[in-house]
Amino acid sequence: MSLRLGDTAPDFTQDSTEGPIHFHQAIEGKWAVLFSHPKDFTPVCTTELGEVARLKPEFEKRGVVVFGLSVDPVEDHRRWAADIEETQGHALNFPLIADADRKVSTLYDMIHPNANDTLTVRSVFVIDPSKKIRLTITYPASAGRNFQEILRTIDSLQLTDNHKVATPVNWQHGEDVIIVPTLTDEEEIKKLFPKGYKALKPYLRITPQPNLEE
Ligand code: BEZ
Repeated sequence: MSLRLGDTAPDFTQDSTEGPIHFHQAIEGKWAVLFSHPKDFTPVCTTELGEVARLKPEFEKRGVVVFGLSVDPVEDHRRWAADIEETQGHALNFPLIADADRKVSTLYDMIHPNANDTLTVRSVFVIDPSKKIRLTITYPASAGRNFQEILRTIDSLQLTDNHKVATPVNWQHGEDVIIVPTLTDEEEIKKLFPKGYKALKPYLRITPQPNLEE
């Protein structure tokens, strides 16, 4: 059964480049990203892992721990890590799960047999501090992911969890947001959005992002 938004992220214990990962213990009270790679020593994956290593401070700024996964043994991961550092200029600085027995890939439905029988697709799971799955993305093996987009959606999730807003198309941190249509009490709106809002339609009300420092 595939995992859906709002489901609890399944727990597992699996080996990684940083030793055994007890997943629920490792993500306790934190935001987390779990993302899969079809296979070790493949070109697109090599670029993706280098990019996530480069972006690690951006994930940390948001309180997010990251875990990669590939269906090969940990010894292969360690040899591949040297190639990643050499070619991408960034050493692996987060755990790469060694899912040789496909335990985690199966649990998270990362193998799509009509795409490939044995390799995982490029899955992404964003998990919140209560271990709920908040975002899933699935890319084919041939298309590398845009990890800036994953950071952007984490910004949106973290903002909209704390404020009665939603983020519009192509929104980036710092840009105007939308007041949720269920909020109709004008007194409450004034209190929550002291900078005011512009109503393009009764259901489409734009306001400056509420949690920005002046
Ligand atoms: C890659 O990461 O380059 C890749 C992996 C599996 C199939 C095709 C490309």
